[in-house]
Amino acid sequence: MQKRLRIGVLYSRVRVEEKWIFAALEKRGVDFDRLDDRAVHFDLEKPEPWRQYDAVLERSISYTSGLYALRVLDAFGVRTVNTVEVAEACGDKLTTSALLRKAGVPQPRNVVAFTPESALDALEELGYPAVVKPVVGSWGRLLAKINDRDAAEAVFEHKATLGSAQHQVFYIQEYIEKPGRDIRAIVIGDRVLTAMYRNSEHWITNTARGGRGELCPVTPEIEALCLQAAQAVGGGVLAVDLIEHPARGFLVNEINHTMEFHTAQPLSGIDIAGEIVEYVMRAASGQ
Ligand SMILES: Nc1ncnc2c1ncn2[C@@H]1O[C@H](COP(=O)(O)OP(=O)(O)O)[C@@H](O)[C@H]1O
Ligand SMILES: [Mg+2]
Repeated sequence: MQKRLRIGVLYSRVRVEEKWIFAALEKRGVDFDRLDDRAVHFDLEKPEPWRQYDAVLERSISYTSGLYALRVLDAFGVRTVNTVEVAEACGDKLTTSALLRKAGVPQPRNVVAFTPESALDALEELGYPAVVKPVVGSWGRLLAKINDRDAAEAVFEHKATLGSAQHQVFYIQEYIEKPGRDIRAIVIGDRVLTAMYRNSEHWITNTARGGRGELCPVTPEIEALCLQAAQAVGGGVLAVDLIEHPARGFLVNEINHTMEFHTAQPLSGIDIAGEIVEYVMRAASGQ
């Protein structure tokens, strides 16, 4: 008889996605624990409590908590979805861009500098408008569209003076004149499950910022690009975000490793939570 799987789900808040994931685990009769990342602790000398899990699904809202939990679980030899390497690759936008570059995946042009002065030089080379982003962040927070040198000087000075260490890396991207939307594709393993447009009057199209979802057909081109992008960061359960460039076509903007899918699931009618659970079960059985 097959051994009954035991899964841990590390989470911060039970959002609708976690509700769907718990329900999908229950439906499949999987033995699982809900692990609140604000309540758990790890003792590096005591891996046993964690080794009871055949796999842990990481759904932390905090990138830091999730990343370090994965790091310790990896040291304990516990399988995780996603892996710590994938979390590292996706959680930091500059790391993602570097890996996309390495794999030759099309993306917006990026420049990187470490002081306000050199960032200004880099931006003059790149040209305006441009987008400055914190390397770690989500929901469109602290993104700045810079239309001219005056704005650049102000934003860079603010970052240097008020920002944490993480803001001392200046990650600057060309602004893409996209058609009032971007595209979010859900990738699990070697499959693109579904994609949606996020439409908005604002240049920041995140649904957390009012972007409206609309089903986007997964063309062979979108499918191939998303799989290539997912592979570049190590693969797993991912959301690949694309921007449509008027001349260069689809560019990969970012890849999320603990994505929300509150809009994509009802819109597509695809049981994304169920697919995630099946993927975790396969990982748990070592497949
Ligand atoms: N270079 C860019 N050109 C045009 N729009 C952009 C660019 N970068 C980001 N955006 C818009 O801003 C949104 C949020 O950017 P993103 O890099 O995904 O940050 P976050 O991690 O906060 O979601 C994107 O979904 C897209 O609509
Ligand atoms: Mg995004």
